[in-house]
Amino acid sequence: MSETPNAIDAITAPISSPGEKFFPKFEVTPELVAKAQELVALYPEGKEQSAVLPIIHHVQEEFGYVSPEAMPWIAEMCKSTPIHVAGIVTFYPGIHRKCPGKFHFRVCRTIACALAGGEELLPYICSKMGVEPSEMTDEEPMVVSPDGLWSLEAVECLANCGYGPNVMVNDTLYSQVTRGKIDEIMAACKKELAAERKEAAAAKKEAAAARREAKAAAAAEATETTEDESATKKAAPKKKATPKKK
Ligand code: FES
Repeated sequence: MSETPNAIDAITAPISSPGEKFFPKFEVTPELVAKAQELVALYPEGKEQSAVLPIIHHVQEEFGYVSPEAMPWIAEMCKSTPIHVAGIVTFYPGIHRKCPGKFHFRVCRTIACALAGGEELLPYICSKMGVEPSEMTDEEPMVVSPDGLWSLEAVECLANCGYGPNVMVNDTLYSQVTRGKIDEIMAACKKELAAERKEAAAAKKEAAAARREAKAAAAAEATETTEDESATKKAAPKKKATPKKK
C-alpha cells in the first residue's frame, strides 16, 4: 500500500526549476547566520518567532526562493517549528517555494489592470518567454522558461490601479504596459544579462592572472632560496681531516 504524504512532506517537497542556475544554492554561511541573528535581535526575548517573515524575505532575496532545506534552518533561528515556517511560506503568494527565472514578471490580473489590457498581455508574454499560459495553475502559479531566464506569475493588485496594466519585473514596477513595452523590457533584461556575464568573465580572467602571478612569485622565491642555500654550502670552510692516532 502506498503511503499518503503528510502536509509537511507535501509542502517541503523540492520543486525543481530551470531558474536555479541563476541563483546560489541555499547554504548556511556565517554571513547568513549573522543576518538572521541581527533580524531576531530586533524583537524582544520570547518573541523570536516574529523574525520568521523578515528572515524568509532575506532568504528569498539571496537564493531566489525558500527551499525545503531553508525552512528548518529558519525555524531553528527563530525558535520556531518547520511547520510554522512552512505555513507562512505557503500563505503568502509573494513567497516562492520554486526558484523563479533570472527575470521574474508579475502581471497584475485584478480587474482594473485586466480591463486596461492586462488580460491580453499574459498570452503575449507567455509566447515571448516560450511558455504555455495553461502551465500556470492555482497550485503552481509561476511558470519558468526552459532556459531559466524568465518566469511569469499572474498576481493580485500591485497598488497602482490608475495606471494599468501594471507589470513588475523583479523589483521594478512598470505601468501602462503595452506589447511594445514588454519587448523593450525584455531587450533591456537581455542587455543586463550580457553586461553581467561580461563583468563576470573579466573578473574570472583577472583572478586567473592574479593566481598565475602568485604562482610565479612563489616559484621565483623557491629558486632564490635554493640558490642561497647552495652558495652558503660552497662558501662554508671544509673541515680538516683529523690525523689518525698511531
Ligand atoms: S488592479 Fe492592477 S494595480 Fe491595482
